[in-house]
This record gives sequence, C-alpha cells and structure tokens, in this order.
Amino acid sequence: MTRLNLRKNQQCYFFSLLFFTGVMISAFPVFSQANVIIPIESKNNAIVLKTDADGRPGIIYFGKKISNVSEYQLIPKSFRRGDDYSGILNSAYTPAGSRNLVEPAIQIAHTDGNLSLDLVYVVHSTEKTDDNVSITKVILKDSKYAVEVTLYYKVYANEDVIEQWSEIKNKETGNIRMQKYASANLYLTAENYYLRHFHGDWAKEMIPEETRLTSGIKVLDSKLGTRANLYQPPTFMVSLDKTASENEGKVLLGSLEWSGNFKIDLEVDPLNNLRVIAGINPFASEYTLKPSESFVTPAFLYTYSENGKGEASRNLHNWARKYRILDGNGSRLTLLNNWEATYFDFTEAKLAELIKDTKKLGVDMFLLDDGWFGNKYPRNNDRAGLGDWQENVKKLPSGIGYLVKEAKNNEVKFGIWVEPEMVSPKSELYEKHPDWVIKQPGRSEHLYRNQLVLDLSNPEVQNFVYGVLDNILVKNPEVAFFKWDCNAVIYNAYSGYLQNQSHFYVEYVKGLYKVLEKLRAKYPKLPMMLCSGGGGRVDYGALKYFSEFWLSDNTDPLERVFIQWEYSYFYPAIAHCNHVTDWGKQPIKFRTDVAMMGKLGFDIVVSHLNEKDLKFCQEAVVTYKSISDVVWHGDMFRLADPRENDFASLMYVNEAKSRAVMFNYLVESRYGDGTLSPIKLGGLDPKKKYQVKEINLYPESRSRWTNPQSFSGEYLMKIGVNPDVNTRRTSVILEITEEK
Ligand code: GLA
Repeated sequence: MTRLNLRKNQQCYFFSLLFFTGVMISAFPVFSQANVIIPIESKNNAIVLKTDADGRPGIIYFGKKISNVSEYQLIPKSFRRGDDYSGILNSAYTPAGSRNLVEPAIQIAHTDGNLSLDLVYVVHSTEKTDDNVSITKVILKDSKYAVEVTLYYKVYANEDVIEQWSEIKNKETGNIRMQKYASANLYLTAENYYLRHFHGDWAKEMIPEETRLTSGIKVLDSKLGTRANLYQPPTFMVSLDKTASENEGKVLLGSLEWSGNFKIDLEVDPLNNLRVIAGINPFASEYTLKPSESFVTPAFLYTYSENGKGEASRNLHNWARKYRILDGNGSRLTLLNNWEATYFDFTEAKLAELIKDTKKLGVDMFLLDDGWFGNKYPRNNDRAGLGDWQENVKKLPSGIGYLVKEAKNNEVKFGIWVEPEMVSPKSELYEKHPDWVIKQPGRSEHLYRNQLVLDLSNPEVQNFVYGVLDNILVKNPEVAFFKWDCNAVIYNAYSGYLQNQSHFYVEYVKGLYKVLEKLRAKYPKLPMMLCSGGGGRVDYGALKYFSEFWLSDNTDPLERVFIQWEYSYFYPAIAHCNHVTDWGKQPIKFRTDVAMMGKLGFDIVVSHLNEKDLKFCQEAVVTYKSISDVVWHGDMFRLADPRENDFASLMYVNEAKSRAVMFNYLVESRYGDGTLSPIKLGGLDPKKKYQVKEINLYPESRSRWTNPQSFSGEYLMKIGVNPDVNTRRTSVILEITEEK
C-alpha cells in the first residue's frame, strides 16, 4: 500500500470513528489492521511503528530518519525484531497478561478480575500545532475488553525532542485497576548499551555511573514520595554500541516529567534489543478507574543524537528554554541570600544591613531564607514552626512589608523562602489540623529533618499551600521571588482524606501540580526557585512552574564543578542557581567563577570580605551582567571533562556566534597539574575572526590573556587555546568576541 493510500484509508476510518461516539468505538469489534506504518519524525530522527498481522503495534525503527518513508518497512527484515516466541518484544506499549513474557508497560485488572490485556491498533492521526510541533496519536484497544489506550508522541522537530505519554480509558461497565501504567515504551537496537545514570544523597547530587547493560532489567526508581530524587533522579542517558563522547556516538537522553515516584526499566531482551519503559512507579500505586474515567500519564521526555552527548544536551537545553522552563528565554535576578550568612539567627536590623550589602555588592535582589516565621513555636532551628507562616514578631516586628520597603529604598528586590508542603510536629498547624498530616494511624511518626509532609491529595491542604504564597503576595505585592523548598521524604504514607490509599503517591503529585497551576494562573511571571534540600526535586514536570532550581546544598566550588557538569547534560545554565558561599577552601575568585556558569548568587557575609575580595566581587557582578546573556541563552559546549582531566573546561556561544565565554577550572592540585596544551573550542564560525581575552581577573593581577589576542574561528576550533590553568591560576574565564 502506498503511503498516500495508507493515509487515506486511515483518514476514512478516523472520520467514521469521529462520526460514532467513543462508546460506539468500544461497542464495535476491532478489525485488526495489519502492516500499518506510523513514522514519527523530527528534524533528524524517526521512530517508526508498524502493526503486525494481528494489528499489534511494534517499534520497527528508532534512529536517524530516511527521506523515503516507504523504505521504513524494509527495516524489520534486517533487524532482530518481532521474531521472538511472543512476537511482541518490540511492542510500542507492552500489555501484560496475554502473550507477553517480559516487563510490561501496562498491566490491568478488568472489572471481572481478568488480568489480561492485548492491545491492537485502531487508528492514528497527526496534528500540527505549529511549524515545529506536532502530536501523533495512536489509538489502541483491547480485542476483548473495553479498555482503550492512546499513545501520544509530541514532536518538537527542530530540537529533535519527543514527549511521549499515554492515556488509558476505562470503557467497561465497572471499575478497572491499573497495576502498571507507564508513560512510554521504547525499543532500541544496538550491539551494546551503556547506561549513564545518577545517584547520590543530600549534598552529593548527580554522581554519575556508567555501566554496560547486560541481559535482564536494570531499574532506576524512587519510592520516596516527595523529594523523590534524593537518591536518584529520573534522568539518564543510554549510548548505543559504544559510550558516546561529547561530539561522537549515538546517545539517548531521557527524563520523566514527574515530581514523585518513578520507575524506569531498562531491559536487554533475549534478542539483545533494549526495551525502555518509563513512568510513574507502580509501587503501592495500583490506580482504579471508574467507568468512563481515563488516566493521562506524565510525559517521558527524550532526545536522540548520533553526534554525541553535546548535541543531545543542546537539544534538551533549546527545548527547555523555549517550551518548558518558566521564562526560559528571559533573564534572572542575581541575588544575596542570607542562609549561610545567618542561618536562623537574625533580627530585622541585621537583615536591613544585609539588604544594604545587597546593594553594595551590586546584585539585583535580597533573598530572605528560612527562620522568619512561627510565633507559638518560633522557627529558630529546624525543629519547629513549619506550617505557621506568620512573621515571627520578635525577629520581624515590622513584618515582611518593612523588609520589602527597605529593599526598595536600596533599589534592590526582595525574595523569600517558603516550604509550604511541610509541617513541624511542633507547630500550631499540626495542633489544629493533625488530619492534614501524612502519617499512619496508630503507628509512631518517623521524621525527616524533624518534619512531616502535608497531605496534598486533600483539596483543603492544596488551598492552604496555595494560600501560603498568595497571602504573602496579597499583603506584599512587591515580593519579587520565592524559593520553594521541600526537605522531607514521605514515611508512613497514608492519607486521611483519600478513600483509596493506593492512589496516594499519584494524588500527592497531582495535588502539588494543582497548587502550582493555580499560582501560575494568578502570578504567571513571578520567578521561583525549585529547591528540595538541594536537587531533591529537579525534573521537567516541576520546571514548568519554576524559573530555576537549586542544584545542591553542597556549594563547595570544587564539588560544584562536578555537580553542575552532570546537571548540564539535561538542564540549561539559565535554570542553574549557583551561589558563592564559604564552603570549600578555594579563593573567592574560584568560587565566583564557578557560580558564574549559571545564575549567579551570593550567600556570604559581605561585611566579612576584605577590601580586595569585595572589590573583586563587585567587579564580578558587573562582568557577569555583561556575559549573562551568553551563558543563559547560548549553546553550551563541554570541552574538557573534570572526571577525565585535572581541569574542567566548558563554554557558551551566542546564537550569532559572535560572542562566547569559556570557563576553566583546576580540579586537582598536585604539582604540575593544569592545562598543558590547548583546548579546542566549539560552536564558533570557522570563517570569523575572534579576539580572546581573560575577564574576571582578581584585582591587580594580569595574565598573558589580559590583552586581547586574535584568532580565526577555525584556529580556535582546530587548535584551540591554552587558558593557562595551573595551581597559581586555578580558574580562568576567557571571553571570545568577534572582531568587526
Ligand atoms: C534547605 C535548602 C537550603 C536552605 C535550608 C533552610 O536545606 O536547600 O538552601 O534554604 O533548607 O532550612
């Protein structure tokens, strides 16, 4: 069948389906449609689905696209696909309980208790949202039971990014129970698969591990409920055949857009193909659908490149800035935060001084952190007060309003910390609403950072959490920024509100998103930092509502070089909040240079800086403002990996390729360590002429890069420059500007 005929046939079928109601669809027997080919293409890549003789959809191809669409059907003959015992190892959405023998994407108990599902193709369609974005819908249906599944593939063509999710509809006459309901099911073919995944703990986020996948299943998951990424985020990459480098190799970068429990199964099957199944973690989360109800899963986000990790992450950055992160193409507020300067110990007068320091430093905003609230149980340490979001009258007798005014008088903005999902057992909120707290009736409480989590599945709690921010903003409309923290995990998961406890983990996240949606409806632009005791909740589900995130409480600049590096595979610099603090032994220049590759902030006692350090910081803020456009909106090129060298090097280039900034850091300090040869730059125009010069020098210091030197773009990319990083020059920033 030609492609045109195929499309026509499907259209006819589609329109006749539209003619009938949804109920009619399920009441009609499903006629299997064999050999339907569904190519889902972005600028460079394609996923191709094909139905088998019985209409079951399989993935026959995942890789670079080809220009002649009709040739996709030749592929299965040359690959090991669909010729196993079950014939559905390559299923586009593997159902459990029928002929499948491996990890399912979906598992359902029907109204009559039957546990089998067998999904066959009904119809598909593609709708273009605009020149770049399209959504392909593939409707599947069980051949015996009235359960319908729609697979969605949202393609961002130029970015080579796909968001994939599923919708499960119960058209039976009674309840069905979903025991697994993944977002996506991919099928990749290669000789070998190398998984790079991340693990860690508080202050140890994003420790990478790269391992060859062998037969069987490797699972990445979380069961923590909230702060779900404490041990492991839902982000990973898989290199095909051999481990991909920055500029070479086939690599898939993936992430689940969900701020709760997730599960990603990576199964090397008996045919040595890789099955990737990503979605909400089914752990303790069987979900019941009543008749006519449907469930839409969160999206699984992925990009694929055959030109290495660099291109793949630039794809994600471009997508995230344009389509996901709040104000992704906008600007960010540099700031002074008081957390490490004061911890809980401050007064109004002390804060007024810090606000003056904010102005002195030259940053845009003062951010008041934890400790400003609670009266019956004042928040003077982390053992009390969460939930009582009224200004502490001893610390802030004149209220937040006074601080906002002080900030205004000093021509800076004012931002504030909240942790609205949480409650301290020592709080008035806990006394008043014990039923709002997540805890098992009759069991002893187990605390995390001395606190418990509020039950966001409960609409009353959702209103309360919304109110925490809304009340502050209604009273103080000039509050310009929130840092939204989330420090505790969920122990003893139980909701006093929900009838069905196995809905709890899902409803918690849905409740959180409801609150954030409502906030964004009223305050669409207000910048907010997503913080979770560090990076405990960094994911693209949440980042829709946030302008930036806090990567880690570990601000030791040496550690940060590594942490920021790993996050940079998935998230663009504009979203990285980096603060200069007193952690670590590095000089202020090193600390500041590291914080500059992202959104710059300070969390230091400005009055403790000596004259030269202060001058350096003030100048650094000015320098940062001159380069931030390139860092925030430019393309990122990782040049030298700190795990493979005794230095790290990376750069950002603007779209016009007329300006770039290169950051270099020494990460080892043994005798002779440093950059001994040139580092090749990336992303420039080989034909252009550029000037290279060092910026952000410490007062009174000079280098051989102080005076600009001229090079062609070709030279810079083929030969490179040596920034002269060594034990005397532990961090160096070079600015590369087109010569006019
Ligand atoms: C968390 C955050 C920190 C700080 C403290 C305040 O740990 O990650 O930045 O805000 O809470 O208690």
